[in-house]
Amino acid sequence: MADSDFPGSRLEAPLTNPVSVSWQSPSNIAFVKYWGKTGRQLPVNPSLSMTLSKAFTETRLTSLPRETEGTADLDFWFEGKQNSAFGERMKRFLQSITDIFPWLEQVSLKLETHNTFPHSAGIASSASSFSALALCLCSLDTELCGILLDETEFRIKASFIARLGSGSACRSLFPGLTVWGYTKSLTGSSDLFAVPVTEVHPLFKTLRDTILIVNSEEKAVSSSEGHSRMVNHPFAEARIRQAGKNTTDLLEAFKTGDKDSFIRIVENEALTLHALMMTSDNGFMLMYPETVRIISRIKELRRETGLDICFTLDAGPNVHLIYFEEQSEQVAKLIVEDIFKNIKQNTRIDDFCGSGPVKLS
Ligand code: PMV
Repeated sequence: MADSDFPGSRLEAPLTNPVSVSWQSPSNIAFVKYWGKTGRQLPVNPSLSMTLSKAFTETRLTSLPRETEGTADLDFWFEGKQNSAFGERMKRFLQSITDIFPWLEQVSLKLETHNTFPHSAGIASSASSFSALALCLCSLDTELCGILLDETEFRIKASFIARLGSGSACRSLFPGLTVWGYTKSLTGSSDLFAVPVTEVHPLFKTLRDTILIVNSEEKAVSSSEGHSRMVNHPFAEARIRQAGKNTTDLLEAFKTGDKDSFIRIVENEALTLHALMMTSDNGFMLMYPETVRIISRIKELRRETGLDICFTLDAGPNVHLIYFEEQSEQVAKLIVEDIFKNIKQNTRIDDFCGSGPVKLS
C-alpha cells in the first residue's frame, strides 16, 4: 500500500451547514520502542505497544462552510481555550495531508479537544490527540464525501493517517497490544499502519501501567529531535536488529504467557531507548536521579517479593510501572509504602490495557 491507495475526494458542492463528528481515543505505552524514522514518517524498526484505557483524548471536529478555497484552515481549542502552539502543529499536519483529503481546502475546521490526563505526565498526548483527529477526519470523509469503508479498512486508514501526525499515534487505533512496522513474525504487519496482535495469552490482557510522576515539566528534547539523532547514530544498525529480535521474542512471549521474557525485554527496551539518547551525537539525558532510584528499586523489589513487576520509560523521566492485575493489590501497597519514599512528588496515574477508541457522535 502507498499513499495513493487512499484516493482523495473533493466536495461536489460547497458545504452549506456545519458537520461535526467526535471520537475518544487512548494513548499507548510502547514495550518495544519506535526510535528513528525515515521518509514520510516511516519507522526504522518495528515497535509494539499496549493501548491504555483511562488516558485518552476526546476530540470534536467540525467542518464549516468556507467562501474561498485555500490551504487547510484550523481553529484549535484545547481544554476550552484557543491554543496556538499545539494548534500550529495540527494545522501543519492538516496542510500536509490534503493529497489524502482534498476537501480540507474547501472547508474551515474547528477542532475542540481535551485530555483525561495532565500534560507532560509521561503519557504520550500526541498519540491520543493524533489518533482522535485521524478518526474524526476519516468520519468526516464519510459524512462529506460518502467514502464508505468497512470497520477494518476504516481503522487501518485512520492508523495510516495518525502515523503521519505522530508515528506512535498509529498504534492507538486498536485494543490491547499492537505492532507498527514490518516484522516477519506478524502476518499483515506494515510500516504504513499498525495492526493488532491477536494471539495473546489471557494473562497479558490484564496488564496494568501505573505512571509514577517524577517530573511533569515540558521535556528538554522533543521526540522528533530524538528521532533525528538516530540518523548516523553509531549504534543504529545494532539497534534496528535488536528491536526486530525483541519484537519477535515479545510476540512469542505473548502467545505462551512467558512473564519472565516479557519483563526482560520490556526493561531492556526502556534502558536501550535512553542509552541511545545518551550515546547520540550531542547526547542528552532525560532520566532524573529519582528515575534511576525508582527503576533500581523496582528491580530490587522484584527480587525481594517475587512479584512480576517491571518498568518502562517513555522519552521522559517518569516511570511506568508494569504489572498484572492478579498482583495489583500487593503492587499498590508497595507503591505507597516503598516506592513513593523515593519520589518528592507522590503522584501517580493508574491505567490498564484498554479496548481502543470509541465514536462519540
Ligand atoms: O510518535 P513520536 O514521534 O512522539 O515518538 C514516540 C517515541 C517513543 O514514545 C519514545 C517510543 C514509542 O514507540 O512510543
